Amino acid sequence: MNARGAVRVEFTPEQLAEVRRLQGLYPDRRAALLPVLQLAQEAFGHISLEAEEYVAGLFDLSPAHVHEVVTFYTLFFREPKGRHVISVCHNLTCHLLGAQQVLAHLKERLGVEVGGTTPDGRVTLLGVECLCACEMAPMLQVDDRYEGNLTREKVDWILEGLA
Ligand code: FES
Repeated sequence: MNARGAVRVEFTPEQLAEVRRLQGLYPDRRAALLPVLQLAQEAFGHISLEAEEYVAGLFDLSPAHVHEVVTFYTLFFREPKGRHVISVCHNLTCHLLGAQQVLAHLKERLGVEVGGTTPDGRVTLLGVECLCACEMAPMLQVDDRYEGNLTREKVDWILEGLA
């Protein structure tokens, strides 16, 4: 535990070796920041402020710099995420074809706001930019798979398939 009462984050020697390998791939080792943050997320479950500070130290960067990177990308989770992540596209095409109704239905079914995780840790709900399948709008991504041409019934079917 540190002074703020949070669990201390630290890579294993093997993970640190991977950090050094990634940093060695680039003329400027800061180019390895994104894959190292991905490694941190896999190791610690999410990127806490403590993890940002720890990773910053590995790159001789300020924690504020790492925080800016983490908060820019939607694929980094700053809180523990659910077992499943549903990301609803709310970019233009999906917006015009019903993304807000899809989000409203999901919020009602899950009882969470966008960015939230159900109390049982089953699902985290996100709103994201274009998922690059506009021809199937409205679209969402659930874990590693994509589902389009969404209707309320299809959203219900997707939810029923999540353990
Ligand atoms: S706007 Fe939603 S997939 Fe492109």
